[in-house]
This record gives sequence, structure tokens and C-alpha cells, in this order.
Amino acid sequence: MQTKMIDKQWSEKYPEVGKGPVSTEPNISPEYFELERDRIFRRHWINMGRVDEIPSAGKYFVRELEICKVSILVVRGNDDKVRAFHNVCPHRGNTLVLDERGQCPGRFGCGFHSWAFTPEGELAHVPDEENFFDLDKSKLGLTPIHCDVWEGFIFINLAPEPAETLREFLGGVATQLDGTPFSEMKLLKTYKVEEAANWKTGLDAQNELYHLPFQHRYTIGNALVMKDNKFCRFSNVNLYNYHSVWSCEYNPNATQLPTEAVMQRVDNALTDVRVKQRISDFDWYLIFPNMALLLFNGVSGDFFMTYNFWPIAVDKCVWEMRYHFPPAENVGQRLAQEWTIGRLRDTLMEDAFQHEKIQKGLAARARPDMVMQDEEITIRYFHEVIEREMARA
Ligand code: FES
Ligand SMILES: [Fe+2]
Repeated sequence: MQTKMIDKQWSEKYPEVGKGPVSTEPNISPEYFELERDRIFRRHWINMGRVDEIPSAGKYFVRELEICKVSILVVRGNDDKVRAFHNVCPHRGNTLVLDERGQCPGRFGCGFHSWAFTPEGELAHVPDEENFFDLDKSKLGLTPIHCDVWEGFIFINLAPEPAETLREFLGGVATQLDGTPFSEMKLLKTYKVEEAANWKTGLDAQNELYHLPFQHRYTIGNALVMKDNKFCRFSNVNLYNYHSVWSCEYNPNATQLPTEAVMQRVDNALTDVRVKQRISDFDWYLIFPNMALLLFNGVSGDFFMTYNFWPIAVDKCVWEMRYHFPPAENVGQRLAQEWTIGRLRDTLMEDAFQHEKIQKGLAARARPDMVMQDEEITIRYFHEVIEREMARA
């Protein structure tokens, strides 16, 4: 049963959110970008990845958080704890780990003078140690970064003392999604796209359905339009302190793509993973500041995706997309998963192309602002939260 279309329902639900034009300056100003480093990315919890990427002791990955000019080593210790460190050797500042991911062979060895560190970050060995002056190895471990895990998602916080716990920061998102079987769905595909666009321009363009029947007319078509209307509208919107979620229903009368019916026939897994925390067929969470979490009602088993928009410069970002599916039980289901990945990849490539065109248009300063309708409320809210956080000295 599809939700009925009601005009301007979200601003009625959230009257405190503005209705006027939204400034383009945050998406194009180099000064604004410089301030975002300290006020957004050095202050708030930032998703690094998932615990599934480092399933056993000594497994690690390195994440370059370019806007903050830091390299972060995320590693599972022999005590099973996931920790984050500055990927910097405490001796003379060399970059410690050069690989993007791997297995620590007992110790992380620095390439410069071979100081060696345990996966728990302790300094274990110093060549020619006697020749130093009162060297206290216990004070020369890797520099830790605040790190916490929620439902398998690893977050870090670069603040010396974070103002709130990860749980407090996630607030209503965590309440809604606690217990979601994320770990039953495995990472099947990652795409990284370098875009000539501000990180918020990319995120904004994903944070609505208004464009779907137009920009994605050949890849998505009318799969998400309302049954009684040619437009897409949300079936639900929730705004939290930092974050937001919108949801929508699939169109039961959608025109199937030629291969879609075939895929539905072959996708015949016996068991499936179902997410009872799903609000509707498709939920799209913005997890402040730069992450989106997408939950889908899949044919045989739900699946989820994450986006991370990594800021590089005011007009450059990397859009990282990750697809997680339940483990395939047979060839048919595996084929259907690949088909889904391909369909979404084509759709998202249309978006990536568009992000750069939008950035170019905004940077021309033809207009100082953007007008937004009711179905763009989560973009508007995101910009209000950004402004609120940027105003905090
Ligand atoms: S800088 Fe790493 S051992 Fe000297
Ligand atoms: Fe899109």
C-alpha cells in the first residue's frame, strides 16, 4: 500500500526548518572549506569503515583523512579490540604503515630506523636502545585517536576530548538501527570516484528523490515514483540532532527493465536476511557529516550500501560507495546481486557526472543561493546543521 501524496508535509512536520533560499557559498568558498577542517572534521565522529574489514588480530587498514592532513591506522589488537592511531612513527615522524590494508606480521616496523610497535600500539623494540638518553618506551607508543564502534561501523574522533560519545552523537539513528544485522551482509563491491566537486555538492545531490524520474529515466525509470503521481515523494522523514533519514516505497506498477524480470526469476535463495529496522522499502540516512547509509528491501534478502564523501579540496572529493549483500546461496542469487550492483553503478555514474556539472554551475556564482522544495528538506536541514556547527567557535 503506497503512502498518499500530501503537499508540503515535511515542513509541516518540521516547521522549525527554514523555507527560504539556501546559500551556495558553503559549497564553493575556499575559506569555508578551510574552516570545515577544524569545526566539522576535527570535532565530530567520522566513519572509517567496518569491523568486517579487520576480522582477526593484527588486521589493519589505513585511511587518509586528507582534509585534516592525517593518516589513520585502524587495527585489531591481539585482545580483539579495534583501535585507531596516528599512522606516524613517534621517533622522528616517519609514516609508519605504507599499505592501504593488510596483516601486521607481529609488529609494525618503521622503515626509517626499525622501531617496532605491537598491534596494540606499544613500542616493543628500539635498535641500539642503550645509546638514547633515558628512553621511556612506555611513553613512546603510537599516538592514539579516539575510536569507537557502533553496530560494526568504526568511527574516530580527532578532538582531544570529544564533546559527546559516539552513541550520543548518533542519537536517534542508533535508536532506530540498533540490532540491524549489518554483519550478516558482506562487502561485495567498492567503487571510488574522484570528482571535481565539493563533498557537500555530491552529498546534496544524493540526498533527495526529486531528480530520479528525470536524471535516471533510463536506469531507474519509474521504480520509485508514486503509484498515483509521476513524481517521487518520501513516505517518511525523520530529522535528528545532526542526522536525517528519508524513506520511500517501491512503485508496484513500475515498468521492469528487460533483464529485471529474468533476475527476479533466478534470484531464488531459500533463506534471506530481513531488516526489521527498515522504515520503508528504501531508507536513506545521512550520518553527519559525510556518510550516507542506504537500506534496501531486496528481492531475496535485504542489502545495504554506504557512501563516504571524502573532502580533498573545496572543489574536489572522493565518493566511496560500498555494496553489502547477504552471502549468496546459489548462482542465481549471486547473478542477481551482480545485476543489482551494475544497475546501481550505472545510476550512480549518472550522478557522479552531474555532481561536477552542478559544482561548475555553483562556482560560476550566477546566483547566490538555491531554492528548495518540500522534498528537499533533508538537504536544507543538512545545510542548517553545517551552519550551526561552523558557528561554534
Ligand atoms: S622515524 Fe621511525 S624509527 Fe626512526
Ligand atoms: Fe541520483
